Amino acid sequence: MTEAKLIRALNNENLSHFSKTYVPSRLLLGPGPSNAHPDVLSALSLNPIGHLDEAYISLMSDVQKLLRYTWQCNNRLTLPMSGTGSAAMEASIANFIEEGENILIAKKGYFGDRLVDMATRYKAQVSVIEKPWGEAFTYEEIEYEIETKKPAIFAIVHAETSSGVLQPLEGIGDICRKNNCLFLVDAVTSLGALELLIDEWKIDLAYSCSQKGLSCPPGLSPFTMNKRAEEKLSSRKTKVPNWYLDLSLLNKYWGSDRVYHHTAPVNMNFAIREGLRIIANEGLENVWNRHNTNAKKLWNGLESLGMELHVSEDYRLPTLTTVKIPPAVDGDGFRNHLLRNFGIEIGNGLGELSGKVWRVGLMGFNSCEENVDRLLNLFDTELKKFSIFESSTF
Ligand SMILES: Cc1ncc(COP(=O)(O)O)c(C=O)c1O
Repeated sequence: MTEAKLIRALNNENLSHFSKTYVPSRLLLGPGPSNAHPDVLSALSLNPIGHLDEAYISLMSDVQKLLRYTWQCNNRLTLPMSGTGSAAMEASIANFIEEGENILIAKKGYFGDRLVDMATRYKAQVSVIEKPWGEAFTYEEIEYEIETKKPAIFAIVHAETSSGVLQPLEGIGDICRKNNCLFLVDAVTSLGALELLIDEWKIDLAYSCSQKGLSCPPGLSPFTMNKRAEEKLSSRKTKVPNWYLDLSLLNKYWGSDRVYHHTAPVNMNFAIREGLRIIANEGLENVWNRHNTNAKKLWNGLESLGMELHVSEDYRLPTLTTVKIPPAVDGDGFRNHLLRNFGIEIGNGLGELSGKVWRVGLMGFNSCEENVDRLLNLFDTELKKFSIFESSTF
């Protein structure tokens, strides 16, 4: 078909019946995205301005200051990368790994696997330590592996969204420094929601996302790196094999010079400024307490309804709870019922937990008592309709 004929064929389809874009209203209580705060949505809908406009450059500095507070660090290179969490995840690998270099990845779920996949693509020498999905590593296990394998980088997921495990991080930074290794942390499901002290815990590199604790839509990935990481980056022998995520190029825009690299998604940066401002207004410790309190209320409520939680309370993740689907229940049926009839999203299990657990998220703006009560009430009244047997006890 020639080009002209193709255009005519498409036009013949009559596209004028499309209505204005509409999306249904949802309460997102799954693994993410979470709902955006109304003030974030207002900021997002402002008219764009130029990404080198002095007003925008001043907004960039606000975002960086607010991000340093939220990360609890003084790192000069703290910035929101363009792209979802996986973009900053890939930047952390692409910039700090050279071919053949050793990286040790502690894997206890789906996102540990993604780190392994990325590191392999960048031709790292990858070593993996593994835990079952639902458990965390002990300090001693990590110490032993770093001391024997002597990796250039040690990477671990703080809040594993696939299993619902919160990995304790305190002390690991000291092991890494003693062994001349960089400490890389995935904080996608913890930043802006759970205690995370980048400087105090001696984390050299970390990345996150905009769509969970920061109450923004997906689209940006906050990233931070300290002087140890800067030194490693400047000692590279080869070019970073990814132009878009090259931190030395991004540094020219987000560092002091503000020189064009790519057109910044300006509206997403309006949004993240607002999401971070709301966190600073509430106070970081209050934000952490709110997430912990609402998670405990959810856990107690679910257990008193006879539900079993997948992860033991010692390392259960407040932002994402994995709830075992009782054997006598149609898990997908219940999940779809909540979405279609109540506009509430909860998640299915991911990877090896698919069909075995539901994933319930309480993140950012959505972590509130009212949402917990609403969901518990639905577990109480609706779940029995999805019992495969007559009995409604689980
Ligand atoms: C722990 C973790 N790491 C990385 C990612 C990837 O982030 P994104 O999907 O925003 O690219 C996710 C996504 O939910 C995540 O939960």
